[in-house]
Amino acid sequence: MKRTLGTCYYPEHWPESQWSEDAALMKASGLTWVRIGEFSWSKVEPTQGKLAWRWLDDAIDVLGKAGLKVVLGTPTATPPIWMVHKWPDMLAVDEMGNPRKFGSRRHYCFSHEGYRTESERIARLFGERYGSHPYVAAWQIDNEYSCHDTTVSYSVAARQGFQRWLEQKYLKISTLNQAWGNVFWSMEYTAFSDIDLPNLTVTEANPSHRLDFSRYSSDQVVGYNRVQVDVLRQFTQAPLIHNYMGRITDFDHYKVGADLDIASWDSYPLGFLEDRSEEGDAWKERFSKQGDPDFQAFHHDLYRTVGKGRWWIMEQQPGPVNWAPFNPAPLPGMVRLWSWEAFAHGAEAVCYFRWRQAPFAQEQMHTGLLKPNSQPARGLHEASQVSAELESLPEVGTFASKIALVFDYESDWAWRIQPQGQSFSYFSIVLDFYRGLRRLGQSVDIISPDTADLDSYQVVLIPGLMTLSDTLQQQLATFKGTILAGPRTASKDTHFATSSLGAQYAGFAASLEFVQSLRPNSLITLPAGGAFHKWHETYSHDTAGVVETDSMGVPALICQDNIWYLAGWPDAVAMDRLLTMALDNEGLSHQNMPVGLRVRDTETHQFLFNYDKDPVTFDGQEIEPAGVVWKRK
Ligand code: GAL
Repeated sequence: MKRTLGTCYYPEHWPESQWSEDAALMKASGLTWVRIGEFSWSKVEPTQGKLAWRWLDDAIDVLGKAGLKVVLGTPTATPPIWMVHKWPDMLAVDEMGNPRKFGSRRHYCFSHEGYRTESERIARLFGERYGSHPYVAAWQIDNEYSCHDTTVSYSVAARQGFQRWLEQKYLKISTLNQAWGNVFWSMEYTAFSDIDLPNLTVTEANPSHRLDFSRYSSDQVVGYNRVQVDVLRQFTQAPLIHNYMGRITDFDHYKVGADLDIASWDSYPLGFLEDRSEEGDAWKERFSKQGDPDFQAFHHDLYRTVGKGRWWIMEQQPGPVNWAPFNPAPLPGMVRLWSWEAFAHGAEAVCYFRWRQAPFAQEQMHTGLLKPNSQPARGLHEASQVSAELESLPEVGTFASKIALVFDYESDWAWRIQPQGQSFSYFSIVLDFYRGLRRLGQSVDIISPDTADLDSYQVVLIPGLMTLSDTLQQQLATFKGTILAGPRTASKDTHFATSSLGAQYAGFAASLEFVQSLRPNSLITLPAGGAFHKWHETYSHDTAGVVETDSMGVPALICQDNIWYLAGWPDAVAMDRLLTMALDNEGLSHQNMPVGLRVRDTETHQFLFNYDKDPVTFDGQEIEPAGVVWKRK
């Protein structure tokens, strides 16, 4: 497979006379893909039913004739003002009960039937017109589901939909009352129509109620996406894609991904470091111009699974962005490094957002591959360099990893609903295990908890997984390798009731005394090295299979057959030590990577990426800052 590059282009932002020059320069710069159309609704349909296709026909023609392949976006992330006039109640409603206003984007509510019908209609019109167009080689449905906190809506449509969803799930109101534990605080309902959305309650709403509402909200995204998939499939054979985001977990991406052909995600390494990282200031300072060394890779590995093996970067930062608390410029070479890292993790394409910086509206401070005056910006030079390098790289294949780390969207909702301590974050604990594995030079697969087959792995990690599904339990029962679980694994049932105190981990001969969350500087030291922080579980002294205790003699690592259970959240020192033990147990080789240096294996090559500000020497080779090195294995 040939790996390719692309960009995101908005022909409607520029005079038609400029399009062919832009297209020619894209081609000359080594780009293959050009994504257009995803915010174009008011231009295509300025008033309801009045369609203005000519400009889009021409734009596709100009781009295609220049030798580019078009990714066409359905424009449903930006319903025009006439839509809001027609359906005033299609606006999403925030947790405080306020409708979100027109004037930016993503203002629709996923539960609104009228808006779904409108989305199906516009997707059908796009499909009819361009479904078999020779220049339209892929489709993007909508844009960044959940961006700007838009999965969950507390609208009337959502309330009605939620009541129907609950009735289908529980059939009888008494079953729901039992499952949610509504006897607590006299919350028992007499009919499904009694049930409101879990916002604006006096104190916290019932976590079971909230978890079901998270599931309902996620299902709305899946259902909404499916409407467009079903209609587009009638008209096109081209792959259908959605562009997911970094650290956005409000809907189950595996379920959306199941309906699509390719997963893609929008990678903004510097924006994410400032905006979405829980690491401290020293870390942010050190990597402010390079991005977090593990954040991108984590998402590459996640979306490879969401895309069932096929994935792209649909948008990549080409220079400073406009939306994070601080927006530094990437270190020279980082645009190239990020692109190569995506390819090393198996990306088929990397597209840069955006072609030319817009001198107007919200994102005028966001760089593009071109400056607003059409002069090349630094990102374009680096993109062209990657394109030239791609020509000489042989097919490298995707590595078959021996290590699987489970990431589960429901667990993320559950622990956000009841974190039991400010610093308990499911996303962070999974990322921490991933970081630890990468510090040991590992290439990791991230898998869903419903993965049907674990046979190819030797180590499976399931930190913080709220519930063990029947499938996973069966899988683990016959799994021959090492399973690393805990803390908090399997501690709830699917209704968010505590599963069974005293057997925190299914089938585990351990007696749990209590769990506690820890203040930022409160550590539980481990004499063997490192400490637990943030979260700790106290098991009784007579627990069977204790391999390691903490400094108070309390079980820290408990083993039963091939299952290892950790009684706390390990800090970096403990993490590296424990992961090393697990790798050694399976005879897997490992090496300690210098800070900021990361490795990724492909089938045939090994890639090294230097995320640090300073040169790093590794295996006798000096790698400059932002350096990328690859060699045959
Ligand atoms: C993405 C979005 C783009 C643009 C970009 C700016 O999240 O899909 O439309 O807003 O961010 O960085």
